[in-house]
Amino acid sequence: MPNRLRLGVNIDHVATIRNARGGAHPDPVRAAKLAAEAGADGITAHLREDRRHISDDDIRRLRREIDLPLNLEMAPTEEMLQIALTHRPHAVCLVPERREERTTEGGLNVIGKGNWMTPYVRRLTDAGIRVSIFIEPNRAQLEAARDIGAPVVELHTGSYSHAAGEGLAKELDRLVEGARAAADLGLECHAGHGLTFDNVGPVAAIPNVVELNIGHFLVGEAIFGGLDSSIRRMRAAMDRARADATGAKSA
Ligand code: PXP
Repeated sequence: MPNRLRLGVNIDHVATIRNARGGAHPDPVRAAKLAAEAGADGITAHLREDRRHISDDDIRRLRREIDLPLNLEMAPTEEMLQIALTHRPHAVCLVPERREERTTEGGLNVIGKGNWMTPYVRRLTDAGIRVSIFIEPNRAQLEAARDIGAPVVELHTGSYSHAAGEGLAKELDRLVEGARAAADLGLECHAGHGLTFDNVGPVAAIPNVVELNIGHFLVGEAIFGGLDSSIRRMRAAMDRARADATGAKSA
């Protein structure tokens, strides 16, 4: 399918369940293999500073055992830079990280950070790694991401996924405008966080968005119908929304 929206399956929470008992089951690398068979275009994993889910060994095994592109989410620290340079994933998505947070609660603030972020991004880029910045859909952040040399941004869909009523339309507008601004600035645009079967459609329909990264819902839903089924249903919901949007535009 031309312009197929890519799906990056985030396997962090397979590791969360494994770590609850400290053993080897369930194995996130096995989940990544299954995700590949179910139609994922990439695997996403967040190596957190506290290693609460994905471990260093998971990253090593994902690189060795999985053919799909790996998108390594990480905080922009020197420790993580060295890990990325060692394992050389296809992509790195730079995210903010606070130990006390339950999940990545907001986008990275890159405004005014050029002095140290520009060389940081360059070191990853020079190693052949495609760098994306996880940011709020806000023009000033997008311009700053462009200025530090990132070719890709991932728009944080958390506010959209938590919004209801009038707030929902407003949050969706912010994403649409953010994706448009990203295109104006020559940035490839991804999106993710908190997406579900019910709320993925309007985001999948945004024409400039080329990739969605989805994890928690897919792993949670797998409890009821299996991981293969949850990924296939998400894939179908994304494709349907994209096809409807494209059809509506050309009609
Ligand atoms: N994209 C980024 C940058 C993230 O940090 C996360 C959460 O780790 C996701 C996407 C996926 O979010 P969720 O697990 O809510 O689908």
